[in-house]
Amino acid sequence: MHGQWSSRWTFILAATGAAVGLGNIWKFPYLTGQNGGSAFVLVYVVCVAALGIPLMMAEILLGRRGRSTPIRTMQVLAEETRAAQWWQIIGWSGTLAGMLILSYYSVIGGWTLAYIFKSAVGTFSGASGQFAADTFEHFVESPTGLFFWHTLFMILTMGVVAGGVQGGLEKAVQILMPTLFFLLLLMVGYSMTTGFFGKGLAFLFTPDFSKLSGASMLSAMGQAFFSLSLGMGTIMIYGSYVPKDTSIASTSIIIALADTLVALLAGMAIFPIVFANNLEPGSGPGLIFQTLPVAFGNMNGGLAFGSLFFILLLVAAWTSSISLIEPFVTWLIETFGLSRVKAAVYSGVATWLLGLGTVLSFNWGAKVKFFGLTFFELLDYITSNLMLPLGGILIALFAGWLMKVESTKAELRIMNPGAFVAWQVLVRYIAPIAVFIVLLNSLGIL
Ligand code: PHE
Repeated sequence: MHGQWSSRWTFILAATGAAVGLGNIWKFPYLTGQNGGSAFVLVYVVCVAALGIPLMMAEILLGRRGRSTPIRTMQVLAEETRAAQWWQIIGWSGTLAGMLILSYYSVIGGWTLAYIFKSAVGTFSGASGQFAADTFEHFVESPTGLFFWHTLFMILTMGVVAGGVQGGLEKAVQILMPTLFFLLLLMVGYSMTTGFFGKGLAFLFTPDFSKLSGASMLSAMGQAFFSLSLGMGTIMIYGSYVPKDTSIASTSIIIALADTLVALLAGMAIFPIVFANNLEPGSGPGLIFQTLPVAFGNMNGGLAFGSLFFILLLVAAWTSSISLIEPFVTWLIETFGLSRVKAAVYSGVATWLLGLGTVLSFNWGAKVKFFGLTFFELLDYITSNLMLPLGGILIALFAGWLMKVESTKAELRIMNPGAFVAWQVLVRYIAPIAVFIVLLNSLGIL
């Protein structure tokens, strides 16, 4: 009945494919730029190591034991452990978070689509930083354009979801993701020629703690959850297909390392271009669209590389977008007995409608603020900075306190007793307390 990954590497590649997406290449660099660079990067890396890896282990572990959608998994596990049924909230909040995230993810996925075409027709040949920045400004000013690309991206996503053909895409990803990785290396190579590579590296890696505020710590932590797809049950679904004899610990470490490496490479490609062209590091969500075209426009074969890069970024976004909506779609199917196609259409239309708010938040509605944030910023804040970390805490508490120690031991199969205790301490105490401190601190309470 329930399938299984054919090997540990298939699982690692599939989970990395779902984790690597716009979060690494679009979001990480612009958040780093907005939060002053290195100190943000440091907090991010610490969060990945100290919270991300143990929580990913916890999520895979729950998924392998519960073997279902996040909501159903938590129901089954609550019964098994005789815990209160309200633990299902983990599944509910994760399912909702996925849908909310997809609503804006699709808009940015649409930008990627548009940039495939812009690059292919040579818009950026010989482009200066100023030209690339202006092109982007002009692009987001028009709601109709963004509307069109957002719609197209959503159709692509829902098409795969409705067809239930994720398998095909995931196979393709196993070739395409390594290619994306090599293109990123190539971009880093270009950045080395700008004369500002050292400045870019210093911006990323020479910690300047004066730039660290409660808000930037929260955003670094939220980004760790977002980038690793943690705290919302996606990894739970993937985990449910993991063969019994696979080591959850080493697998989680590999996925986290690969994901972080892609993000850091994206940063190393982008910031030298920012400084070489006098662009603003904190310019926001448009950062990669304002910088990378300069590189493509000025390197040999840039036309082909540029288009290929945005195609691969699209594929990376596509696999992530599918994993964002899959819990919601499966829930609709299981709860209301809908066909897969109907469930995909309903959830697609609802998510698409919500996405229109994000489309408008970059132009007509840019001045409409909620608590000082645009609609897009608000959605991103609620999901990345609140829902995912809180979901993560609950997952950690459930795995750490409610699951029987014999069962977690049996699932994790960590041979080294010290390492098992370390994991326990991390999920029982450190992760929940750290997330709380960061949350309270950003609210100015601590
Ligand atoms: N991790 C994905 C990215 O970095 C986004 C994502 C978040 C996907 C949560 C699934 C679940 O783009």
